Amino acid sequence: MAEEIIIVQGNGMLRGEVAVSGAKNSALKLMAAALLGQGESVIHNVPYISDIEIMGEVLHCLGAHIVRDGHALVVDTSAVTRCETPYELVSKMRASIAVLGPLVGRFGTARVAMPGGCQIGARKIDMHLVGLEALGVHFDVDHGFLEATTPHGLHGASVMLEFPSVGATENLLMAAVAAEGTTLVENAAREPEIVDLANMLVAMGARVEGAGTSTIEVEGVPLSSLHPCEHTTVGDRIEAGTFLAGGALMGGPVTVRGIDPSFLRMALMKLQAMGCDVQTGDGWITVARTGALLPTDIQTLPHPGFPTDLQAQFMLLAARAEGSSVITENVFENRFMFAAELGRMGADITIEGHHALVRGVKGLQGAPVSATDLRAGAAIVLAGISAEGETRVHHIEHIDRGYEDYVGKLVSLGADVRRAPADVPVSC
Ligand code: EPZ
Repeated sequence: MAEEIIIVQGNGMLRGEVAVSGAKNSALKLMAAALLGQGESVIHNVPYISDIEIMGEVLHCLGAHIVRDGHALVVDTSAVTRCETPYELVSKMRASIAVLGPLVGRFGTARVAMPGGCQIGARKIDMHLVGLEALGVHFDVDHGFLEATTPHGLHGASVMLEFPSVGATENLLMAAVAAEGTTLVENAAREPEIVDLANMLVAMGARVEGAGTSTIEVEGVPLSSLHPCEHTTVGDRIEAGTFLAGGALMGGPVTVRGIDPSFLRMALMKLQAMGCDVQTGDGWITVARTGALLPTDIQTLPHPGFPTDLQAQFMLLAARAEGSSVITENVFENRFMFAAELGRMGADITIEGHHALVRGVKGLQGAPVSATDLRAGAAIVLAGISAEGETRVHHIEHIDRGYEDYVGKLVSLGADVRRAPADVPVSC
């Protein structure tokens, strides 16, 4: 099939209301957590994105049976017996490492392909392994696969994470719920998706306290106490932040619904600092701008700090601000590739290590560009809406990994955006 691209005409229009989907970075882990209960769990508000499809294939390989019913997933883990995930799937989506914790929790053993790196960094899992070893897991590496065993069973432990890793916190929680005794995770990640996972685990019969803070306490329960449940995924704060950044860029007003505004406090503070008007209510946020976009400095940090997954979207805002901004990426080692794509559209950005100096320019020009990761891809489409002329975005498979019907939602906000085969003639 010919490559599909997104074609954007720079009409500067983005106004209205859009409902965000369920959080990709929660739903993937909720699917993995379902492995801990034997039977049918139902997960609501699951987005139609390719990463969810891949996680479904991973669970299917383990013996689970997944049925999608609209935005709900019915995950039947009754027949799960295998504990091996294939390299082909893990290499497509490194988040499949999230099955490690629940497999070890349920079976005491697992054979998962070592995830590779990706565009934005090495994406190591050393903290996952050190933490699980503290709970009694023994790891061998066999031809690119992690062989996990628990020769003396899974037991509670006190674990201090070197960095508040989201994935490591999640894998530790999903193993600790079935360990014998109490586990204390210190310097735990505090992202809203961690709270969502903990809430599902509690609904399954687990005992988890402190999720959302840096210290999480898990009191292990017998595996037989863990049962399937019904759970609704929280709204996607990064999708919401992406559309709000679009509203800030074009002036809006743009309202996103289906999101808890408390998930985005730092990003909303930065939008206000950049000259936007921000209104919030129960499950909704509105952003508008009448004056100039103002420069501001941004440091990406673990939650509640500024989210790295909104770094590209705010680099775009800084690129159109009246003045210079410094953006520092503290979470991933290689997450400035978006700057080069934006530079092709006329942005003035200088990268020095983890810092990007962004000098605002008066306008951007449409150009052929590529999505370098899913968040940069979403941001470059927004750049095209604000640019003069036509922008063609290649490698949009990155965007489809994490945004349900991104084009359709942008069109509903007035943008002139469409998917097309890459060989469609350039409009004059
Ligand atoms: C999750 O990745 C998200 N992905 C990422 O979203 C998000 O950017 C990240 O958390 C930070 O918020 C999913 O939830 C599927 P980390 P994760 O473990 O769990 C290093 C998106 O665009 N590290 O908090 O992999 C790691 O290399 C994606 O939706 C170790 O060195 O993030 C990274 O530099 C991108 N050793 C930093 O820590 C470890 O054992 C943060 O990683 C674990 C992590």
